[in-house]
Amino acid sequence: MNDKLGTWERTHRCGDLTTEQIGQEVCVMGWVQRRRDHGGLIFIDLRDREGIVQLALDPDRDPTSHQKAEQIRNEFVVAARGKVSPRPEGTVNPKMKTGEVEIEITELRILNRSETLPFMLDGFTEVAENIRLKYRFLDLRRNKLQQNMLMRHLVAKTVRNYFDDQGFIEIETPVLTKSTPEGARDYLVPSRVNTGNFYALPQSPQLFKQLLMVSGFDRYFQIVKCFRDEDLRADRQPEFTQIDCELSFVNRGQIMDIMEGMIAEVFKQTLGYEVSLPLPRLSYAEALDRFGVDNPDLRFEMELQDITSLVAESEFKVFASVAASGGLVKALNAKGCATYSRKDLDGFTDFAKIYGAKGLAWVKVNEDGWQSPIAKFFTADEIAAMNTALDAEVGDLLLFMADTPAIANEALGRLRGHIGQKLGLARKDDYKFVWVTDFPLLEWDGEQRRHLAVHHPFTAPLEEDFGLLDTEPGKARAQAYDIVLNGSEIGGGSIRIHDQAIQSRMFELLGIGAEEAREKFGFLLDALSFGAPPHGGIAFGLDRLMMILTGSDSIRDVIAFPKTQKASCLLSDAPNAVDDKQLQELGVRLRTKQK
Ligand code: AMO
Ligand code: AMP
Repeated sequence: MNDKLGTWERTHRCGDLTTEQIGQEVCVMGWVQRRRDHGGLIFIDLRDREGIVQLALDPDRDPTSHQKAEQIRNEFVVAARGKVSPRPEGTVNPKMKTGEVEIEITELRILNRSETLPFMLDGFTEVAENIRLKYRFLDLRRNKLQQNMLMRHLVAKTVRNYFDDQGFIEIETPVLTKSTPEGARDYLVPSRVNTGNFYALPQSPQLFKQLLMVSGFDRYFQIVKCFRDEDLRADRQPEFTQIDCELSFVNRGQIMDIMEGMIAEVFKQTLGYEVSLPLPRLSYAEALDRFGVDNPDLRFEMELQDITSLVAESEFKVFASVAASGGLVKALNAKGCATYSRKDLDGFTDFAKIYGAKGLAWVKVNEDGWQSPIAKFFTADEIAAMNTALDAEVGDLLLFMADTPAIANEALGRLRGHIGQKLGLARKDDYKFVWVTDFPLLEWDGEQRRHLAVHHPFTAPLEEDFGLLDTEPGKARAQAYDIVLNGSEIGGGSIRIHDQAIQSRMFELLGIGAEEAREKFGFLLDALSFGAPPHGGIAFGLDRLMMILTGSDSIRDVIAFPKTQKASCLLSDAPNAVDDKQLQELGVRLRTKQK
């Protein structure tokens, strides 16, 4: 039998007791982290979300409680009353916030028992993630995850306060809705009442927030779940949270300023870290040129150099032919890495191949010159020119990639990130932000033989590139911006098209005919024709931001109930089979049998 809580009221959280409460009678409640018997005395470490406090049970002071304490096992739920006292000389634990005190217990109640747990919660024992996810309610008792959730709450609170101060209002948008193209597959929900029809879960509130601007709300934000059926990676979940914003009567720069302020406030409140504003801004073209990717990690330099012109006339056919065919030869200098082994270099080549590279050439800069399989192809002048371009010194490792511009940039850019990590240049407690702007508006999809929107179809072109829409649409740049933190895209947005004719033209460029546009986006086109103000916005990936703030390697560690890489919930077993009756009501027949 367990004891009743009765009229007991908790006075403090375990983790909040310090020398300030010495002498006070307190009542704490929580979980037993550990019980230790010291001859007659029993010590219990009692834990709640704020921390751990030591309970001291003396058989002479309170024999009943002491007897109860003997039955206590880990994770029992306990309430205890007693007096806060200084710990005896020599037993102070300076590592704990409560380490200078203990509670001398006068009454103890066992509120509930616990079976032996499937894994230890001590934070030292490695536990397989599938077990952790199956017993997520226990996993969430662990200190690290408790801290992550508390910080997530603090971020949400800070964001709400900041936006409220800036005159934004939070408005909810529907979850059962119509497909919004953000580039992923939709999650569909069959409608019972409208048999044969489906809702789509929102990939983002994009269209609704634009409609709210047409309605005059002016400054909107929402902390909102979004759903995307896409291949999952370490920083992606099928349902994730956006800090979603939209503003009217503003230009890009004004939006970026407001958003930087929000980010700075979040870093200040959570980590006490001062972000220095304004954040640096890079054009997409410059980001690609210098770092190979549109989400560069600026915690370290190691910039890529375009050496195409230096090797175009060389004897090395691989480089010369790439140069002749409009490709790029790019190189980077991994400072001091000439000691890397053959195995490391092969590893780099394999890494680059993931991004489509055909090969990777390397040079070790030694006292007596270049050591490299490709050294023999170059004249002394060519080598000298490359050394200068790459600022090569003895002990450096030079890496070269020749390919189409897209592959050369991406593969060497990703390799730059990989080497930065390997060299420990990417410190977790270093925060380097950058805005990347002027993305291309469109990208050509060779398979579908049509243009796709790089951001989304509602993004406005740069004003000076409007003319290109009729001549070379592929060259037009967008009024779009991403915010990148430590190589991770934590947010992205754009100024929108607010002119109905231009939006229709945009659909046309994307190969969406007038009829299809009307059917899919008629409501948007209508709204744009009834006095839509100039507007723009952005959405931040809250989960990605939380990963960085908490130093987590997995997005699952910042979400209370996340899904696996296979988009399933091991705790509840979702998704699962449903019974035939339910399917019948929905008018759904399956082509393959349910598992
Ligand atoms: P976008 O598609 O760039 O823009 O998404 C905004 C941010 O959301 C985060 N994100 C994700 N996080 C976790 N898991 C995912 N599967 C996932 N997908 C995206 C990223 C990304 O930067 N409507 C536009 C925003 C706008 O234009 O205002 C949008 O959704 O951090
Ligand atoms: P090969 O003459 O094909 O044996 O190549 C000589 C060196 O050039 C090897 O180290 C290859 O890895 C490298 N290499 C091959 N293709 C490329 C490329 N596209 N870019 C950079 N290096 C390459």
